[in-house]
Amino acid sequence: MSFAHLFQGVLDLLAVALLALSIKGLSRVRSARTANQLAALAMGLAVVGLLINAQPTIAAWIWIAGGAAVGGLLGAFTARLVPMTAMPETVAFFNGCGGLSSLLVALGVILGARGDGITPSLLVLISIAFSISVGAITATGSVVAMGKLQGWLATPGWMLSRWRHGQNIALATVALVSAVLTVNGFGEALWPLVLSASLLGVGLTLPIGGADMPVVISLLNSYSGVAAAAAGFVVGQQLLIVAGAMVGAAGLILTQVMCTGMNRSLPAVLFGGALGSQLPAAQGGSEYTNITSCSAEECALTLEAAERVVIVPGYGLAVAQAQHTLSEVARLLESHGAQVTYAIHPVAGRMPGHMNVLLAEADVPYEQLKEMDVINPEFPGTDVVLVLGANDVVNPQAKSDPDSPLYGMPVLNVQEARTVFVVKRSLGTGYSGIKNDLFERPNTSMLFGDAKQMLSNVLGELKALGLGK
Ligand code: TAP
Repeated sequence: MSFAHLFQGVLDLLAVALLALSIKGLSRVRSARTANQLAALAMGLAVVGLLINAQPTIAAWIWIAGGAAVGGLLGAFTARLVPMTAMPETVAFFNGCGGLSSLLVALGVILGARGDGITPSLLVLISIAFSISVGAITATGSVVAMGKLQGWLATPGWMLSRWRHGQNIALATVALVSAVLTVNGFGEALWPLVLSASLLGVGLTLPIGGADMPVVISLLNSYSGVAAAAAGFVVGQQLLIVAGAMVGAAGLILTQVMCTGMNRSLPAVLFGGALGSQLPAAQGGSEYTNITSCSAEECALTLEAAERVVIVPGYGLAVAQAQHTLSEVARLLESHGAQVTYAIHPVAGRMPGHMNVLLAEADVPYEQLKEMDVINPEFPGTDVVLVLGANDVVNPQAKSDPDSPLYGMPVLNVQEARTVFVVKRSLGTGYSGIKNDLFERPNTSMLFGDAKQMLSNVLGELKALGLGK
């Protein structure tokens, strides 16, 4: 064993340890940033180790340096330019890139071997077929998911018929047969495999509705890990196998967490078709009969007298980018002696952990964030709940109306608090497109307006009342 080989082994081991640490760190908002940097360092070490070991055989450094420069620049621009609200689309795109890379690595190896007249081992051939199929499904499925979330793609009517299952079964059969033939040395089956798996990715993702898309994205994330692990077998890289398996497992766990949070089973998401199309169309608020609205001044007066305040952030808070104003309001209330906590619903916003990240941006102490199961029993003892741009996650119908499409989804029981203020621009619906009974409850007051604007009005009123002096 050469020194370079040994050196690569040591760096790989270090990288695996760092990756495991980073996954642990990513489970907490406070450590997530460092965890991301650890993961990047792990990947950097792995690349350095590989380059040192493979150095004598590398003929075209320019391709490696060029690829790293282009990829690095694209990554840096994306990180700077993409707003928080567009993160699910970005994650979908990155998953697609991961799937495409595994597909290209496997194709490169098999085409190269064929050009050199070499027959890879059975394990490598099986890994190649696996990497190509899963990589292609991930690549095209992720592009479709991104297009749907961006609103560029809609589900065509025929995709919602039962025929699509037949079509997908046919594509899966062609992919399977082509994969078996590829493993058995029939080179002609390679392109049908790429084509059928790519079409299968489209066929599986296109019928799924926007509301379920983040679940699909985390599943595709898991697939990209599996494809990478298979690519690791193809090129004989243990680190890629380990990292791919970790991503695959983490993606699966996240998928499960999200399905539970939305009360949807994975088969219902994957094979149930577009949820959006089964829900009633969004209505403009005409179905509400008993709405109480109030001003920022009235809200501030109630807040001034409150001892326990719970804030419920939702998608609208992210849209309004009101997190910084919110944390100012919270700090002012705390300086006045109130106890302020944040109720975090697992699927508030549009991606897992959306609210945690948003609040962390505004330096909200992590200890003040309470998960749904912890905060729900505390609502009866709460003076004021401030619902900010949240809708579905506080809809009591999810518990009381068996006919509601939300029925069974776990929600925050904010209606049990003494007073509830709901800040949103109109009586418009949330993601699910259905009416929210909370708005008509006698202890609910609506504050109509943009969350950031309304919070700065409340902040001004609190200061006018003498808070913070
Ligand atoms: P939603 O139910 O989508 O409600 C968001 C509300 O924000 C809307 O009713 C909107 O009302 C309001 N809003 C929008 N812009 C605003 C602004 N600038 N200022 C103030 N309010 C604004 O959000 P939620 O309660 O967070 O629930 C999340 C939904 O997304 C759930 O249905 C969930 O199942 C779904 N979902 C979430 C995820 C994940 S992982 N988070 C994944 C898939 C699906 P107005 O238009 O009247 O202002």
